[in-house]
Amino acid sequence: MPSIFDTADQPAVPISFVTKSTLEKVCAGLPEAAQRFARANGYSAKPGQMLALPDANGAVAHVLFGLDEVGARSFDPFRTGALPGLLPPGTYRFANAAPDDKLAVLAFALGTYRFGRYRKAEAPEVRLVPPQGVDVAAIVRALEAATLARDLINTPSNDMGPAELSDAALALAQRHGASFSCIVGDDLVTQNFPLIHAVGMAATRAPRLIDFTWGDAAHPKVTLVGKGVCFDTGGLDLKPSSAMLIMKKDMGGAANVLALASMIMDAKLKVRLRVLIPAVENAVAGNAMRPLDVFPSRKGPTVEIGNTDAEGRLVLADALALADEEAPDLLIDLGTLTGAARVALGPDLPPYYTHDEQLALDLARSAAAENDPLWRMPLWGPYDSWLDSKVANINNAPSGGFAGSITCALFLQRFVEAAKTWLHVDIYGWTPKAKPGRPEGGECQAARAIFALLSERYG
Ligand code: BES
Ligand code: MN
Ligand code: ZN
Repeated sequence: MPSIFDTADQPAVPISFVTKSTLEKVCAGLPEAAQRFARANGYSAKPGQMLALPDANGAVAHVLFGLDEVGARSFDPFRTGALPGLLPPGTYRFANAAPDDKLAVLAFALGTYRFGRYRKAEAPEVRLVPPQGVDVAAIVRALEAATLARDLINTPSNDMGPAELSDAALALAQRHGASFSCIVGDDLVTQNFPLIHAVGMAATRAPRLIDFTWGDAAHPKVTLVGKGVCFDTGGLDLKPSSAMLIMKKDMGGAANVLALASMIMDAKLKVRLRVLIPAVENAVAGNAMRPLDVFPSRKGPTVEIGNTDAEGRLVLADALALADEEAPDLLIDLGTLTGAARVALGPDLPPYYTHDEQLALDLARSAAAENDPLWRMPLWGPYDSWLDSKVANINNAPSGGFAGSITCALFLQRFVEAAKTWLHVDIYGWTPKAKPGRPEGGECQAARAIFALLSERYG
């Protein structure tokens, strides 16, 4: 990936950030002709509004860009993410400070992303000389991670099946010298991953469990588990076409776990990292699991299939059980698990669940600081009995449909016992409508917030 950053010795067009209340003062510092040009264009410093000011030869001499007033209800620290799509080709620098320069640079970087696998992408030809004091290596690390997550999610399922997802994990593992293994197909049965096998067995592309480990064995054990459902038809309880349409993104948890792992390894955090990804396709066929089938689980409890579309929690259950066997210090799972999480909080604000109060506070703080929003929801004990089955130890999809994201979290909790701390995030992994710094399509969610927290603890 070519760097979008230039060094300070490069000539760069200054961008002045303005709000309605600072416009006059900023303009007063510009040449007379530029001030007249701005007035003649009716420039009013609306948030996101850009104006390129010409010099006497007609070249771009200066750029005005409208930001939100600090404290405004709709304040968006990623506003500068719109700039790469608006600016003419060239090299730019910030002429004055944004409310948060780090987020302003990050948003600019994230705003340069285009998905170019299947046609020539009209990638913006813009570069930025970053302001003094901004940690460029940290921004590049976050940009590379987000690009990885977005590319993996945006790649359609015909080119991103369990094997291709495994290849992507292997490439990342090799780049950082991690040790990698993968259990494929019927070996999942012999090695006791009955739920991963049950979900993936109807697909012509074999299910697998990806497993890689990195770092000093003496460091605290941090294990990441990501839902890697490469396409979710819903199985026999088939999804309606409108809901199935974007289910190529159902490996968004895996993509974001890989993004998070790439930041952890790049920054060489002092952890013993393990990444587990159950990679499957939830397909329809004669040998597909059926409603009210019962399967054993790795951990032991028998699981009744209330709905074949609640497949994510099934594959995570076996992967979490494996992770739990070595009692990690911190066990984190990410997955695109429920539509109910979207009903509650919408696509941009994933709920997270943990019993660890300190972790919950630290994560809320880093999510806000990184502008990678997360919102805590409760592991509400009284709802646990909703998971009761009439014939097995647990049902994967309680009837009634209330509190769907919570009951999913409670289901997963049944498979975690020995880990010192467990964090579960029910992400969406997708931006339905483009916003500054967040193009429509696959999205990196929760990874930056969690990385910031881990950096604080293990940096
Ligand atoms: N992958 C879906 C969840 C999903 C749906 C995420 C739409 C984002 C957008 C998951 O596998 C699923 O189908 N969950 C069901 C669970 C239900 C059957 C208990 C859901 O949310 O409807
Ligand atoms: Mn499903
Ligand atoms: Zn799913």
